[in-house]
Amino acid sequence: ARLALRVLDEVDSTNAEVLRQISKDGEGLPVSVADCQTAGRGRRGRSWISPRGENLYLSMGLTFHGGFAVLDGLSLVLGVAVANALEQLGASEIGLKWPNDVFLPHGKLGGILVELQGELQEGVVQVVAGIGINVHMSDLEGADQPWSSLATAFPGLEWSRNRIAGAIITAVVDAARLFSDQGFRDFREPWQKRDIFLGKQVEARGGEIKGTGSGIDENGNYLLRTEREVIPVRAGEISLRVT
Ligand code: BTN
Repeated sequence: ARLALRVLDEVDSTNAEVLRQISKDGEGLPVSVADCQTAGRGRRGRSWISPRGENLYLSMGLTFHGGFAVLDGLSLVLGVAVANALEQLGASEIGLKWPNDVFLPHGKLGGILVELQGELQEGVVQVVAGIGINVHMSDLEGADQPWSSLATAFPGLEWSRNRIAGAIITAVVDAARLFSDQGFRDFREPWQKRDIFLGKQVEARGGEIKGTGSGIDENGNYLLRTEREVIPVRAGEISLRVT
């Protein structure tokens, strides 16, 4: 794929930047990386702490055909692509917290924020996939949960943000193509083997449902096993937490 790559010193949010890039309708797949963000965005309206020079802030514009329904599963597909890319570079034991947080045994390593640009022509859907990975960050002031970084978890390796960006961009382009052509099918098994909720007691919908984490179904819904049944939980519907 041809990329329209922008490397920025500082930006509000690379996701916002790619949304602007898309609306200008240039050539190539829009990609932005920045050295720091002044208004980094996280999921659920939270902000994403984005200090200068220490981490990867990357966003890519992706186009899909077939309407919004095709986006079911995309978050999980991106998580698998990012985990594969990091393991290619020497990381190990990368876990995924449904739907798409990137985890190490000691805490959150990164996050993915998918934002919708909208439907341009009938059936053509454009999204921005924003990926933040903690690379060198040594102190995360204001973090609301345990976190980790590549350099602290794998100190023996050299963590170049350029190489990480290259590996992730390639993995995401390849995964998005496979997902467009064949749907979620081939991603179920690679996602499940990284499931950090597997076998754990998990609650959903603010405690309304409690069950044992049991992987995902063929569409990427999370499955909670209770004494009586297996309940599928839809992406976007709730957040899961270990009880
Ligand atoms: C999460 O809440 O876990 C998702 C965090 C996503 C952060 C990345 S950093 C690059 C891109 N630009 C943003 O403003 N957010 C995403």
